[in-house]
Formats: sequence, structure tokens, C-alpha cells
Amino acid sequence: MSIFTSKHILLGVTGSIAAYKAADLASKLTQAGAQVDGILTPAAEKFITPLTFQSVTGRKVFTDAELWGGIAHVLHVGLGHSADLLVIAPCTANTLAKLAHGIADNLLTITALAMRSPTLIAPAMDAGMFEHPATQENIRILCGRGVHFAGPDEGHMASGLTGRGRMVEPAELLGHIRLTLGFGGRLAGKKIVVTAGGTQEPIDPVRVLTNKSSGKQGYATAQAALDAGGTVVLITAPTCLTPPVGAKVIPICTAQEMLEAVLAESTGANALVMAAAVADFRPKTVAENKLKKRDGIPQIELGAAPDVLIAVAGLGSRRPRVIIGFAAESRDLLENASSKLKSKELDMLVANDVSAPDAGFGVDTNRVTLLFPNAKEETLPLLSKSEVAETIIAHVAVLLESK
Ligand code: CTP
Repeated sequence: MSIFTSKHILLGVTGSIAAYKAADLASKLTQAGAQVDGILTPAAEKFITPLTFQSVTGRKVFTDAELWGGIAHVLHVGLGHSADLLVIAPCTANTLAKLAHGIADNLLTITALAMRSPTLIAPAMDAGMFEHPATQENIRILCGRGVHFAGPDEGHMASGLTGRGRMVEPAELLGHIRLTLGFGGRLAGKKIVVTAGGTQEPIDPVRVLTNKSSGKQGYATAQAALDAGGTVVLITAPTCLTPPVGAKVIPICTAQEMLEAVLAESTGANALVMAAAVADFRPKTVAENKLKKRDGIPQIELGAAPDVLIAVAGLGSRRPRVIIGFAAESRDLLENASSKLKSKELDMLVANDVSAPDAGFGVDTNRVTLLFPNAKEETLPLLSKSEVAETIIAHVAVLLESK
């Protein structure tokens, strides 16, 4: 179940050309499982119609026409009290100013005053308006009251100028919404370190020794930890993936860099989830210049790369309280996995058979068995990597609560 499932989100739209992007955001939120109620200000209605939002959300869209209708006096209170989150995207300088000063002159600003759940604002305005001391002061006031902000971004603006004032793109806004919904979850106040991707060991300046890990399971685990309200550090080898919004990202390449980053971040961490496929072997020497064909086929001598989990076990009392490892196996899955559980002193091991076409490297699904030190085993059915991640994080929460 995604964090958006059955969440009631109010999407306030104000009078900016970025209003057309709000329709895409409404569509993405609806597809993710949220119930989205649009509220358009009179200025927003000049840019986009209620029908656009209604068509993508399948729900009624509210405008100031309702404010003066039969249910007017309770509508804003009802919306404000029932919603899990108010998102105002795009939010103009004018609406920002009204919110900062408690002005309630349309359905959206009245509802904002009635809100009991968090508010997230995505400003959109010309760079000069954003930088104006009045706007900056209004943002400070709202931040001081616990209002969350996403952006604005730098880039091309409707005025033709370039600067900071563009609304954050809907896909990224979705990440900010996710982050805000996750605050106060089961892992609130807990630092969770997640590693992801396949490390790369250089052979020469252009070649590396790596593996087939895509990083998908690690990134999904970082996202699940954020959804649960955790403070997440994602230590990642190179991947093609976009890191989840809200994670502190530490890019690394080699097993040695992974080791150093994990040891540094383990201090004060509550849990470590070692989803990365870390090299076991690396070239003993790295050629200074590109190896040339004309010099014949090179003999590359390999040496051992450091084992990160073994090094973490050596931290003793400074270890994170909960340590989760993975085992990627192509045969004797459970036998190999349970020996790793012991030798790496893990609290839980996620074993997956990488030879199956629908599990392991690259694909979006996984078929794993969870192993515990008390010999308990939990075999999960074929799931998406996000669902596997949610299960892993639920176990992290239980283990942290029980330790
Ligand atoms: N791991 C690690 N450091 C390494 C290699 C692996 O910390 N140099 C971690 C992985 O992140 C994973 C667990 O150890 O959580 C098991 O990794 P896996 O590749 O399955 O096993 P290895 O320990 O490398 O043993 P083998 O390759 O012989 O199966």
C-alpha cells in the first residue's frame, strides 16, 4: 500500500501560468491512490478550468462559487478538518502574503486558516517578486509556523527572464508531498542509512569492474524509510535512478568509498540497510593511463575489496542498533543466506535468488525470503520492489521498537 492510498489531499491552485502543471500533479496524485479535492482561486480560474481538474481527479472541484452557495459556512471548515494535507501549487506572491497575515478572502485562504493538518507550498512567481523583501519576510513567517515549502526552482520564467521563481516540476513535487505526509511516522527521529547500487572498481581511467545491480531495491527502501518518517541517508553507487526527495545522498563509486561513507554515517544511526551490491574483488593496481589494444590483452590481477558489513560489525557498541543485509544468490539460496546472517552479525537478512527472471537485478519485482537470527523465516510472494521495501522498513521499525 502506497503512502498516498486513501489520503485526502486538498490541492489549492492560484493565479499563475504554472496552474496548468497543477493538473498534471492532480493526475499523478490520483493515480498514486490519493483523493484529491481541487480548490481554485478566482485568479486560477482565469488560467485553467475546474473541469480540467475534475476530469483527472474524478471529484468535485471547489471554487469561490461554492463559498457563496448553500453549504458555504461549513465548506471550508469541513475541507480543512478532513484533509491530510493542503498543497498550494502554484502559490503566487499574493496568496503567500495573504497566508502569512491570516487574510481569508477566498475559499482557498479561508480553508488554509481552517487546516488542522500540514500545509505545503510550491511558490511560483517572477524572480524579482520572489527575492522581494516582502515575499522573503512572508516565507520566513510561514516557515516559523511550520508550513513546508518546495522550491521555487531556478530557470526560464514566463516573463522571458531566467532566475529563481519557477514552480517545482510535478514529479518532484510528488516527492515533497510524500515527504510531508511521512513526517511523524513510525521512524520519526530515527536515522536510517541505506546503501544502493553496484560499486565500480577502476581498472584504468575509462574502465571499471562492476555488477548488475540497478539500485532499485535500495532506492525503494530509502523511499519507504522516508515514508515512515525516518531521517534517511542514501549512500549510492552510480545508478540511473532519481534519489527520493528528502534523502541526504552520498554518491560513491568503489567498495572502499562505500566503506568510508558507511562507517562515517553509522555514527548515530539507528539502522543500516545494506542493499548495495559491493565488490568482493578489485584490481590490485589501477593503470594510470588507458590500457591500449596494441599492448595486447591485459592480465588484471584481483585483490580483496573490504567487506563493509564485517567492518560495521567491528564497531561494537558504536554499531547501528539494527543492521539488515542482503544476500544475492544464484544457488543454495537459504543455506548461503543463513551463513551470511551469522558471519555478518545481522538482525535480518533479505535473501533473493538473482537467477529468477522476475526477481533480483534490474527488474521492478522481487521474490525474497527474510531470515532472522532466531531461525525464523518469512517467504514473501512475488512483490514490487516498493512492496518489498515497505516490508523491510516495517521490520526495521519493529526491531528498533523491540531492542
Ligand atoms: N557486502 C558488504 N561488503 C562487501 C560485499 C558485500 O558489506 N564487500 C554486503 C552486501 O551489501 C550484502 C551482504 O554483504 O548486504 C551480502 O552480500 P553478497 O554479495 O550476497 O555476499 P558476499 O558477502 O559478497 O559473499 P559472496 O559474494 O561470496 O556470496
